[in-house]
Amino acid sequence: MRLLESASLATVAVSLASLLTAVPAAAAPTDALSTRRTPTPVAAHDFIRVDKLRLRDSLHNSHYLTGMNYWACMNLAADSDAGGSYHRFIQELDQMAAAGINHLRIMSGSEGAPTPQPFRVDPPLQPSPGVYNEKIFVGLDRCLAEMAKRGMRATMTLNDQWQWSGGFAQYVSWANGNETYDYPPSWNFTAAPQRGGAPGRGWGNYTTTGSFNDYAAYGNRIYTDAAAEKMFKAHIYKVIHRRNTVNGRLYKEDATIMTWQLANEPQPANQANLLGPYKLQYAPNPSDPLLAWIDRISTYIRSLAPHQLISTGFEGKQGEWYWKAVHSPKNVDYGTIHCWVQNWEVYDMLNSSRANLVQAKEFASEFVGNASRWGHQIGKPVFLEEFGMARDNWQNNVTAGQYQYASKATTRNKDEYFSHIIGLAVKSFMRTTGSFIGTAPWAYGGIYRPEKQRQNEFGMWWAGDPPHEAPGWYDVYDSDYALQIVRQQKDKVDSFIASKGWW
Ligand SMILES: *[C@@H]1O[C@H](CO)[C@@H](O)[C@H](O)[C@H]1NC(C)=O
Ligand SMILES: *[C@@H]1O[C@H](CO)[C@@H](O)[C@H](O)[C@H]1NC(C)=O
Ligand SMILES: *[C@@H]1O[C@H](CO)[C@@H](O)[C@H](O)[C@H]1NC(C)=O
Ligand SMILES: *[C@@H]1O[C@H](CO)[C@@H](O)[C@H](O)[C@H]1NC(C)=O
Ligand SMILES: *[C@@H]1O[C@H](CO)[C@@H](O)[C@H](O)[C@H]1NC(C)=O
Ligand SMILES: *[C@@H]1O[C@H](CO)[C@@H](O)[C@H](O)[C@H]1NC(C)=O
Repeated sequence: MRLLESASLATVAVSLASLLTAVPAAAAPTDALSTRRTPTPVAAHDFIRVDKLRLRDSLHNSHYLTGMNYWACMNLAADSDAGGSYHRFIQELDQMAAAGINHLRIMSGSEGAPTPQPFRVDPPLQPSPGVYNEKIFVGLDRCLAEMAKRGMRATMTLNDQWQWSGGFAQYVSWANGNETYDYPPSWNFTAAPQRGGAPGRGWGNYTTTGSFNDYAAYGNRIYTDAAAEKMFKAHIYKVIHRRNTVNGRLYKEDATIMTWQLANEPQPANQANLLGPYKLQYAPNPSDPLLAWIDRISTYIRSLAPHQLISTGFEGKQGEWYWKAVHSPKNVDYGTIHCWVQNWEVYDMLNSSRANLVQAKEFASEFVGNASRWGHQIGKPVFLEEFGMARDNWQNNVTAGQYQYASKATTRNKDEYFSHIIGLAVKSFMRTTGSFIGTAPWAYGGIYRPEKQRQNEFGMWWAGDPPHEAPGWYDVYDSDYALQIVRQQKDKVDSFIASKGWW
């Protein structure tokens, strides 16, 4: 997701006929997560394939994605002298497996620059063009090997529209003599206010003033810059042909990798006028270079990795025409959506009113309902692979010196919202014409808490939020009720499939 563009909430017409669903059972289920059936490890050849609006494994069983975003996996799993935290990685993987999670969306690319850059993961997998940090690659090997043991498959995100991993803008810069570019508003960990005590503990603030549109337009030159595309293709080739140093599997022959994803949130060409009730939609533009790029890159991936699936990483906020255009190339196997109510100014995390939450839920109903219908219309399933909501942060009193994103705030709104939006995907999955195949909240922070954060020697703190955003904003912590909601989803889907015998 990306940071909101302005602090003011858009005025949104709220239909009074809201689609309220009941809050989840208030009390968390008491049966321990550890009583769950041990998941079956992923066999190297148990590839997932698309069958009309469903996913199936090699035994033709329906495969629903109980997912989670865990973008930092390769860095966390790396050796400690490369900034990793192997013990934390194993602990968090076990926690997620116990919650029934069978799919992780992780990064499989991050780029460095000739001079140190702010707001970005460090160390990167690819510090300079074609040069790889083997320790981070081994981290990625460990992610896949440990995931396979726990019955988890991966979406491997190869590139990024946003600044936190380097991404499009870095490739364009590399391809153009390392030219510099401006960053959009990003979290500056060293800016005031600083937490008392030793430096490197937070808090920080947003200080950068570049524009999102300028930054996105710079990165989008990757769609038409032949030299940048050549570098990106070389990266794709490199990762797909990697042999895992832990379990010996060739990445392209490892069913743990369900999907190669082109990029995190590739954006269309900027448009002057945004349309629709939420001012998010774009007018159709058949000559948008994004479309041809998706076709070329997905065709290239398919030629190298014919057994695995391909997705775009598209958010889908730009409306029906764009969503269908982006997902129509034949080598794009299923659709994606990301739903960001605060970033899109539908929800305000500092507003405790019921109406604010209702607005967010209504938006989600429309957004997920649209994508379910569009998926059916183009004959491809859809993965809700990113969504999040802040904690009840109006409870954190900044005037009194508290951190705006402190973990002490409750998750009342977030829990109700998560139950609602996950419920929408599950209901869609249970309908013959519904196209949803799973959900993945953003993002697992696990044992991280802002109150205990400390930058490591690379300046990283590894919250669930990437380094360009406020740490603690969208984290799912290991003690959060969100994990119970995720697990209830898995149980509900499992018993539904069992009751049908075939789905
Ligand atoms: C750009 O920087 C990279 C290191 O990040 C270096 O390998 C490359 O040679 C530089 N390119 C130019 C044109 O200076
Ligand atoms: C971050 O904030 C510090 C302290 O205000 C400032 O010196 C530094 O230039 C900022 N960094 C960036 C990249 O804006
Ligand atoms: C963070 O920055 C914004 C403007 O950039 C300012 O309004 C706000 O007061 C700052 N927050 C703190 C806690 O200093
Ligand atoms: C809170 O949100 C509701 C619903 O959008 C709105 O009517 C109300 O004015 C907001 N309150 C504040 C203080 O922004
Ligand atoms: C859903 O799709 C309809 C028809 O394209 C559009 O009018 C509406 O704004 C969409 N809603 C959302 C939240 O995307
Ligand atoms: C926040 O803290 C300030 C300063 O301590 C206090 O005046 C104010 O009443 C507090 N606000 C709330 C909502 O508790």
